[in-house]
Amino acid sequence: MHSFGYRANALLTFSLTILALMCAMASLSDNLNSPSPTASVKVLNINRFLKKSTGDDEVGITLDISADLQSLFTWNTKQVFVFLAAEYSTPKNILNQVSLWDGIIPAQDGAKFSIKTKNKYRFIDQGSNLRGRDFNLTLHWHVMPKTGKMFADKLVLPGFRLPESYR
Ligand SMILES: *[C@@H]1O[C@H](CO)[C@@H](O)[C@H](O)[C@H]1NC(C)=O
Repeated sequence: MHSFGYRANALLTFSLTILALMCAMASLSDNLNSPSPTASVKVLNINRFLKKSTGDDEVGITLDISADLQSLFTWNTKQVFVFLAAEYSTPKNILNQVSLWDGIIPAQDGAKFSIKTKNKYRFIDQGSNLRGRDFNLTLHWHVMPKTGKMFADKLVLPGFRLPESYR
């Protein structure tokens, strides 16, 4: 004879097992998805380029950012955080990383976009190293799932260079 309590408990255990299984499958199917995002970024204009009174270089730029991150989305994706960083090396630091722009993409239909924007965060060097400096623009993304582990990756867009002189 099974008591009510026993049956309720068995039902709960069964439900939890199914739930755990579904979560496992969700994150597993996420891992099976091999996304292939694409992006291209143009520097449309150098709006200003100066040495601040602190001695640090600052540059203001207008960017044209186009990306198709739709393949990052699965049914288990809650949202995608994306940011664009300028990456360059100087005699002092092998890697300087300056975040220029970021955004949150809540759904797949917003994951293909093209925007023209000024840098949202200031592009300031820790010193006076930006004249004639080569840099890469790197589009980073963090995929936040409904269940399972977050994952992050990036696309490197190499081959940019700042002007030789302030303007
Ligand atoms: C810029 O990108 C190139 C090619 O991917 C890479 O070799 C180089 O190390 C990058 N530079 C920096 C500072 O990350």
